[in-house]
Amino acid sequence: MQQQQQQQEQQQIFGRQTADVFHVGAKIWVPRRSVRRQSSRSDGVLAAASNAIFRNTALRDWVAGVVKRVDVGEVEGVILTVEIAESKQLVRIDTEGCYLQNEEDVADLVDSDFLHEPGVLSTLKVRYQKAEIYTFSGTILIAVNPHKPCPHLYTQQQMNLYHSKTLGEQPPHVYAIAEHAFQSMLIENQRQAILISGESGAGKTESAKMVMQYLAHRAKQDNGFIKNGECGRMHNNGSFQGARPIEEQVLESNPLLEAFGNAKTMRNNNSSRFGKFVEMSFGDYGFVRGASIAVFLLERSRVVSINPPERSYHIFYQLTKGATQHQQQKYRLKPPEQFRYLAQSNSFSLGDRDDVEEFRKTMEAMRIVGLTELEQDSVLRIVAAILHLGDVTFSAEDQDSQTHLANEQAEQAARNCADLLEVDVELLKKGLLSRSIDTPHGRIHKPLNKFGAEESRDAFSKTLYSQLFEWLVGAINRKIQMLGSGERRPHTIGILDIYGFESFESNSFEQLCINLANERLQQQFNHHVLQGEQQQYINEGIKWSYVEFIDNQDCLDLLEGSKSNPRQGIFPLIDEACRLPNVTNSDLAISMRTQLKNMTRFESPKRDQSAFTIDHYAGQVHYTTDQLIEKNRDYIVEEHKSIITSSANELIRKLGFQQIGGNQNAELNKRALQRSNSSRSAQSAFKLTSVGYRFRRQLQDLSDTLSECQPLYIRCIKPNPQSQPGEFVFPFVLGQLHALGVLVAVRIACAGFPTRKTYSTFVKRYYMLARQQTKLKNINQNDFNECKTCTVKILQHMEIEGFQMGKTKLFLRAGQLAILEAARGRLLNISATRIQACCKRHQAVKRYQLVKHYIVVIQCCYRGFKGRQLAQQIRKERAALTIQSCYKGYVARQKYRRIISAVRIQRAFRRYQTNFCLAIISGQQTCDFFFQL
Ligand SMILES: Nc1ncnc2c1ncn2[C@@H]1O[C@H](COP(=O)(O)OP(=O)(O)OP(=O)(O)O)[C@@H](O)[C@H]1O
Ligand SMILES: [Mg+2]
Repeated sequence: MQQQQQQQEQQQIFGRQTADVFHVGAKIWVPRRSVRRQSSRSDGVLAAASNAIFRNTALRDWVAGVVKRVDVGEVEGVILTVEIAESKQLVRIDTEGCYLQNEEDVADLVDSDFLHEPGVLSTLKVRYQKAEIYTFSGTILIAVNPHKPCPHLYTQQQMNLYHSKTLGEQPPHVYAIAEHAFQSMLIENQRQAILISGESGAGKTESAKMVMQYLAHRAKQDNGFIKNGECGRMHNNGSFQGARPIEEQVLESNPLLEAFGNAKTMRNNNSSRFGKFVEMSFGDYGFVRGASIAVFLLERSRVVSINPPERSYHIFYQLTKGATQHQQQKYRLKPPEQFRYLAQSNSFSLGDRDDVEEFRKTMEAMRIVGLTELEQDSVLRIVAAILHLGDVTFSAEDQDSQTHLANEQAEQAARNCADLLEVDVELLKKGLLSRSIDTPHGRIHKPLNKFGAEESRDAFSKTLYSQLFEWLVGAINRKIQMLGSGERRPHTIGILDIYGFESFESNSFEQLCINLANERLQQQFNHHVLQGEQQQYINEGIKWSYVEFIDNQDCLDLLEGSKSNPRQGIFPLIDEACRLPNVTNSDLAISMRTQLKNMTRFESPKRDQSAFTIDHYAGQVHYTTDQLIEKNRDYIVEEHKSIITSSANELIRKLGFQQIGGNQNAELNKRALQRSNSSRSAQSAFKLTSVGYRFRRQLQDLSDTLSECQPLYIRCIKPNPQSQPGEFVFPFVLGQLHALGVLVAVRIACAGFPTRKTYSTFVKRYYMLARQQTKLKNINQNDFNECKTCTVKILQHMEIEGFQMGKTKLFLRAGQLAILEAARGRLLNISATRIQACCKRHQAVKRYQLVKHYIVVIQCCYRGFKGRQLAQQIRKERAALTIQSCYKGYVARQKYRRIISAVRIQRAFRRYQTNFCLAIISGQQTCDFFFQL
């Protein structure tokens, strides 16, 4: 039935491929079953390639091939000869179930050439194998779990890349969705909600953490400031908030809640065993003012019972392995293998995580979120006390005789537990071994048999743990809710990380609740993305051919009862069975079979009287009625309460008075209060204490909150059942794409108009795109008709086609907004560049003039300096010449004087000689006298 329905849906969504589209050389997708049929007849190459997964789930799987020949026979119709890419085998097939391949992979599925199932799957697969794990489908983000660390995707630079960018401007990423929510919150002044869904292990919690990290980073980038070396936030009243910034406290709540609320399961080593809705509140300028956390339905049974290879909550292993010597003694710890609760499974470690290191982180997180030393000690005491409580075993001679503690180890465990809880050990034992009953003659104490005592012990452990978890959530909330609590807060972004759809071999009350939550969220998705969207087209008078989708209201009616018949539903029947005395689970099964047999989504297998089947939107799930009544009962046993409230430890005492499952989130609490005030008279006292009832109320509050928010969706996909990196199994992923409504949403997004804006908003934002042609700057933005006319002018100027003008809004096709935004961005950039250029020119001219002035002054000075230097030089040279001439004159005179003296002597001598010669000649002297001289 399911398969037939899916095929019909497939045909409705994608339409049939006609034979004439397949030509020789065309690349196509061939149904694997057609290939396998032939292979088994021929060489069986592909049969060997297919593995167990395909054999089990090969209903819808394809292989790539190339058409080699097309034969058209009168009887057979079109027969294709196709070469299969992976085996190079030639097969002859008809065209049924064959599809053309997309030429290239696209970042947004809406941009694909063909939107058939194999096309969508191969796009996701090709991107996944290129380590591009994110893909858009309109405004929905599909995240395929890489199952290996991808640190390059989550760096600071990556975050910066998405800062102030519109959706679609950058490659798909969880940051793009967070940025979109952040911008919409500030620009449109509307509360936002990011709904993350997917099956267990698909990556919801990781995605939620990344969204929170991005928002914290984004808020900090714009508004953070440094004070005394630490980043802080200014309160409304101007005071500076403590040592840790609020973002850090919000982020650190994650590891803390994970330690207490996550556990290893068969599908995920870090599976969240509770749902979580974190609402971050921002100030007008985007800084984080606070946050609030609401949790849903912690899986309590895990504390007392686990099956291999699963583990209990992480904190038990963290404490037993990571405690210091002092803590080991104080809490009387042993290795986890020696505690009975933990030893039920043989799994004590996590492959990729070290419990000792995780314990250090948990303690650090406790400090960061602001738990005092005393509170931290009390929390660890309770955790250790639960472990010791599990070791309290009982024995009895026979079914009806007095039950007592089994042996000395059990006595010691009880003493340890009582000491850690700071209660009287006798009171603890009495509380575990007997139950008080109110009779007309007064209260009597009835001893419990062995089974009863064991149940009482486990119930006490579960109560302690769940109350501790609620207290922790409350304590975190009290720290991070400080800002903005109680006010109306349009500036909020909620992040919902709730358990995915579950279907095991045996499904019980927990799965019923989890699947109810998923049905509700699916309906919200249907309502918003599918139905609401299409209804808007009708209201706005947009030409539109309605896309069918499967409404799950009938399934919700089956689970919760319809408005016309609120008692005829699975949960109301379980509640009723709890209310009436002595009703057994078999009675409940019979009552379900008789009362619900005509409901479309209900089936009751003949072979198993205690089972029933629900046809959920994501597939059929078989439930058992065993333990439904017990699990739905929601009260603290009076004896357990009196043990807890007698404790000398303040925190433990508080747990006894804490309202069971009282939501520690201010907003949801407020809603719960309003509701109980308005309908107090209508509620029976019982209803307020049934787990199912309380859970449904929580879901209702969540739905009410979500309906006030603008939702954004992240759909997480697990690529293969074994959580192996790099493997992408078509049929396995296809089931998830159907269950998450991605395929229908792609179709609607493609055919539809994902962007809509009122005319005035549109004109206000994009008037500049056609300013010169239309003088749009001067239009009156309050005049509807004027805005509408201008809208058309802008779109015509931008050559955008295919849009539709609604009665009040403009409807744009996918991708058109990105074109407008890109053009607007370019224009703003150009304008900004122009303004900057003018500014820079003005500054440059001023600087030039100033520089010029100074240059002249400097030149003057320099030239004066140089002139003076030259004059000095000339003066020096002249002086040198003078000195030289004086010196040379002096030397010449000296020389002259010497010459003159010699000449004079020579002259005198020559005169004397001449005179003597004359004397000789005249005979006055003889020649001898002459020679004597
Ligand atoms: N983006 C990612 N990058 C790297 N590893 C991832 C990413 N998302 C998920 N994982 C891996 O997958 C595991 C499971 O993811 P996660 O715990 O978020 O699943 P979940 O959908 O919250 O499952 P559950 O419903 O059981 O809580 C993580 O522990 C991590 O190892
Ligand atoms: Mg999770």
